[in-house]
Formats: sequence, C-alpha cells, structure tokens
Amino acid sequence: MNQREFKQRQKKLLQQLGKNSVAIVPTAAEKIRNRDAEFPFRADSDFYYLTGFKEPEAVAVFIPGRKAGEYVLFCRERDPLMETWNGRRAGLAGALQLYNAQEAYPIDQIEEILPQLLENRERVYCAIGNDEHFDKRLMGWVNKVRQKARTGILAPQEFLSLDSVLHEMRLRKSKAEIALMRKAADISSAAHIKAMQACRPSISEYVVEAELVHTFTKYGCPAAYTSIVGGGANACILHYTENDAPLQDGDLLLIDAGAELDCYASDITRTFPVNGTFSQAQKIIYEIVLRAQLAAIKAVKPGNHWNQPHEVAVKELTKGLLENKLLRGDLKTNIKNENYRKYYMHRTGHWLGLDVHDVGDYKINGKWRKLEPGMVLTIEPGLYIAAETPGASKKWWNIGIRIEDDVLVTEDGCDVLSKKAPKTVAEIEAIMAKPHAA
Ligand code: GLY
Ligand code: MN
Ligand code: MN
Repeated sequence: MNQREFKQRQKKLLQQLGKNSVAIVPTAAEKIRNRDAEFPFRADSDFYYLTGFKEPEAVAVFIPGRKAGEYVLFCRERDPLMETWNGRRAGLAGALQLYNAQEAYPIDQIEEILPQLLENRERVYCAIGNDEHFDKRLMGWVNKVRQKARTGILAPQEFLSLDSVLHEMRLRKSKAEIALMRKAADISSAAHIKAMQACRPSISEYVVEAELVHTFTKYGCPAAYTSIVGGGANACILHYTENDAPLQDGDLLLIDAGAELDCYASDITRTFPVNGTFSQAQKIIYEIVLRAQLAAIKAVKPGNHWNQPHEVAVKELTKGLLENKLLRGDLKTNIKNENYRKYYMHRTGHWLGLDVHDVGDYKINGKWRKLEPGMVLTIEPGLYIAAETPGASKKWWNIGIRIEDDVLVTEDGCDVLSKKAPKTVAEIEAIMAKPHAA
C-alpha cells in the first residue's frame, strides 16, 4: 500500500478529531506461543490502517493543529545487536522518512513524552476497554498532566471512543484497498482450486491444508485466520480447526480458508466431494445452499439494508428444507419461529477488510444500516446436518455445506471479489476430474 494512502487517512482522521483533541493508537502486543517462542507478530488493524507500520512496540499519536507535528510515532530505536537477533527496525529516522511521521520518539521514552502531548488537550480519543494494561497506562499519563494543574496546564477531561470515527472510515474501502482485497481473493481462489485438485479419499485433512498453505505462501501471504478443513462429520462443526482426520470416500470436505495480503483479509468457503463426484443427497443440499447464496448476493446493492441478504438466504434455505422434508409445515411459520436454525445456526455474513470480521456498525440508531458502494462483506449461507439430528432422515447425515464469497458493493449492485473460486456442481466436478500436475 502506497504511503500516500496512509497520509490521506491521517489527514481525514485529524480533520474529524477537531481542535483540542488527541488520538492515541497503540499497535498490538506480542504474544507468547510457548516459553521463548512467539506467535508471528501482526500489527493492530486500527494502528496499521493509520500508519502502515508493521513493527511491534509502537504507539501513534494524532494531535490536530499541533505546530511541531500532528502525527507523532513512538517506536523502537535502531539497535545493531537486537537487529542481528530479531530483525531490522525502521528506527526514528525511518519513522520520519519512510512512514511520514512528523516527529518520532523512542518507545522507551513514552512515559516521559506522551503526557506532554496531552497537555491542554480537552479530549482523548482511544479504544477504551480493548486492553486493560494500556487503559491503565493511559490513566497514568493523564494523571501526570493533572499533577501540573497548579502551573495552569489543563488535563484532558473527556475520553471518547476512537472506534466511531475510525471504523466508519475503515468500513468504506478505497480503490487501493479494493485492489488489494481482489488480489487476496484471487490468491485464495487459486488455493481452493489446488485443494480440490489434491483431494482424494484416505489422505488426511492436513494434507489438503498443505495445498492451501503452499499457495498462500507462494504469494507471501499468511492465512487471514485458522483454516477449517473438515471432512464428513467435521464439516458440521462450525469452527473445526483440528484438520487431522483422514478423508473418507463418499464424504464432503468443507474448506474455509483465506489469504491475508498486506494485512487485508479474504474469506472463502467451498465444499466439495472427497472423491470428486457429489452423491444425489449431497447434490440436493448443495443446490439449496447455492441457490440461497446466489439469491443473497443479488440482494447486495446500494440502498438495500444489511440484513436483506440474510433474509433472502433464510427464505431459500427454509424452502429447500421443506421441499426435502427436513422441516415440516409452512414457509412463513418456519421462518418466523426460526426453525431453520437447527441446520443453519449462523448469520449470512460480516464486514471484511483488515480484520476478517471487520469493523463497522451493522445498525444505526437501532435500524439495519443501508449498504453503500465501497463496503465489502461476505455472503456465506450453509446447511449442517449432523448425524442423529432429530427429524433428519439418515440419508442426509453428516452433510455439512457452506459456500462463502467476498462481495463488494458497487454503484449499481455488487461485484464478487472471489468469483474465481469455482462453486457450481458442474465446475467443481470438472476441476476434480481433470488430470493435473502433481
Ligand atoms: N472464516 C471466518 C468466517 O467465515 O466468518
Ligand atoms: Mn466469513
Ligand atoms: Mn469463512
């Protein structure tokens, strides 16, 4: 992502904060996996959105109207020894030259310097309640300013949530963000195709997962979230991530996996037969889910509200369940009583962006918000018929299906960013039948 993009975001934020305010945005904390081993570091999404800075131990401060600089970055200093062990650092000069900070200070000096930036500012914008440890430090900084009251220096009086400002900005994607998300979806689509081609009975779920990892890594991407690779009964466990069971002939395989490119997520689910050919029962349920998904995608357009795609999906799924005697009674009552929840227990989507479940309110003043061009959401209906489900005949047992795409709201409808991932029965069977390079 171009630095100009970050500059525009900083400018927009500064304008919205208004005079006498200050916004404090820390990056994520590093997390221990076991003793001396850490999880790979991933910057906090709000922090990254505003700075483009991917190193740990950093705090950005935005101070509208401050003559000495409106954007101050605290970060690690250059340190040849530490860099030999743990990797390169931008340092203070890099913060100024590469990341356009107007002032940069060592993170080790934040306790002394940050309180000075709060002096005579009335309002502090921050993500209160996100990180207890950080909240305490913030109160400590404010208290330091309060101690100067007798010298005539005023301490901030108001604490406001930065989310309402920043998350509205993040909800509407720029051209550059959309280009990145399209590319992330392309990479994920290629990974799903590879997985379909590699799949066959008796290999383990993790062997198929390896195909996903291989494709993501080939493009320099981590997974945006832990991949779900669940065969048969495992496809009916919504957050299954063990991915260690052998795949059985005659079962379906559900894969929910997406690459993260330059911190932007994709989120795709495809479900296909382990042996390459859908059984009659699998095909019937698959077609219901696909019909629901296509109808929901059609409902993604400006002016429609957030919940419309979900309502459309629920209607199609319930119709299909009634047609196949998985539910009894009439359509209206089944929808009203939410009887479909026995087989469809989640919602039809979520915002997508820097976070997989991205930020942005779904309701405004208690009402579902309207979709607008530039918003990106997932459309992911499914049906999950676990074994022994009361009222479900045995022929449907262990059929778990979800179809998930990433969808951009455009001026006159929508654009499916993940359209390169095959999803009709015919497309999937053709890809799995074709001989392919190992
Ligand atoms: N992969 C997470 C989700 O579909 O919401
Ligand atoms: Mn999703
Ligand atoms: Mn998903």
